[in-house]
Amino acid sequence: MGSESNPTLQAIRYQRGSLEILDQLLLPHETLYIPISSLALGHDAIKTMKVRGAPAIAIVAALSLAVVLVSDSEAQSLKTSQEAVAFIEKSLEYLKTSRPTAVNLFDAAKKLAKGVQAKAAEGDNVTAQEVIDHYLYLAEKMLEDDVQDNKNIGEYGAEFILKVWKGGDDLRVVTHCNTGSLATAGYGTALGIIRSLAAQKKLSHAYCTETRPYNQGSRLTAYELVYENIPATLITDSMASALLAQNPDKIAAIVVGADRVAANGDTANKIGTYQLAIAARHHNVPFIVAAPSTSVDLHIQSGKEIHIEVRPAVEVTTLRGPVVESLELPLKFKKTEGEDGKTSSILSETVAVAARGIGVWNPSFDVTPAELISAIVTERGVVLKEDGVQVFDMKAFLEA
Ligand code: MRU
Repeated sequence: MGSESNPTLQAIRYQRGSLEILDQLLLPHETLYIPISSLALGHDAIKTMKVRGAPAIAIVAALSLAVVLVSDSEAQSLKTSQEAVAFIEKSLEYLKTSRPTAVNLFDAAKKLAKGVQAKAAEGDNVTAQEVIDHYLYLAEKMLEDDVQDNKNIGEYGAEFILKVWKGGDDLRVVTHCNTGSLATAGYGTALGIIRSLAAQKKLSHAYCTETRPYNQGSRLTAYELVYENIPATLITDSMASALLAQNPDKIAAIVVGADRVAANGDTANKIGTYQLAIAARHHNVPFIVAAPSTSVDLHIQSGKEIHIEVRPAVEVTTLRGPVVESLELPLKFKKTEGEDGKTSSILSETVAVAARGIGVWNPSFDVTPAELISAIVTERGVVLKEDGVQVFDMKAFLEA
């Protein structure tokens, strides 16, 4: 078991000077790695969600610039350390405009900019190349650290669930969206907790929601669970409350990721998270947020200040995916060859699933109030609320 052994669960392939990302728009039907050789390609991959998930977005942005710094002629012609810092800062500002909600991207950009500024400030004899080398070191370290952070989240989260679970051996967990290897540098956050429980043979079943409209659950989480041989069932988003009602003594927790956690613990995550938290409270099921500390934004006191991305209507009104050729539907196909050499037919057009002309509201995230969250699991440990208090003190936890 383990994503390291499965190349198709690797969202990001990086070696100095070369970056490829797995095109998650094509999963689970097609495994295609696309090269990211410019800032524009990195920006586009994030904006169009070829790569998604808060940690993966931040890492791909950081590494897009790493590749440019090694191979781009403009970057190679930078003469002074100050020119190198200015180039890096400008590039990071551009990458930050790709998606607005996940704070990891902004946190990474800030740390990278500060890091190269500090390098340049070491003295007049610091060269442009030394500033670039320092950037590469910092960006590559983000990639390395993410996997270990996720493994720690997995362990802390599993330990917490096992501690609070009062049921028997039939321990089941529900998750939403995709927080696994595909959303991170590897292993995953909420899905990392599920991996950890499964590795300890403590998990009897996982449920993943479809996660409309982009279907990160049915396309990506289901794909990871099937690959890992974790017993799992897919449900549509509208089935979650019924699932809790019908399994009162089996669901040990709902575990989700985060795109931004405010200082009080209010959490922005994939649309549909909030309604799951309400259902969890009603059924007395622990609702657990799993996120690295880079998802915590101490600059904002509450979730009211989180900018929620609104995405195009077409994501709600259409679907795409493979169809059976023998049905002779009047649709266009393209033949693709998978890594196993087998060809398959992928629908190359989208299918409308909504009445033409209907108005659409498509917020990509919602905010779950801290009050509904039982625990926030980070790579540094589990954050809980003080007795009788409805919010978390993320600042005290992170600064301890
Ligand atoms: O729109 P997405 O797919 O980028 O949204 C992803 C989520 O909401 C995840 O739960 C979150 O980023 C955490 S991923 C470890």
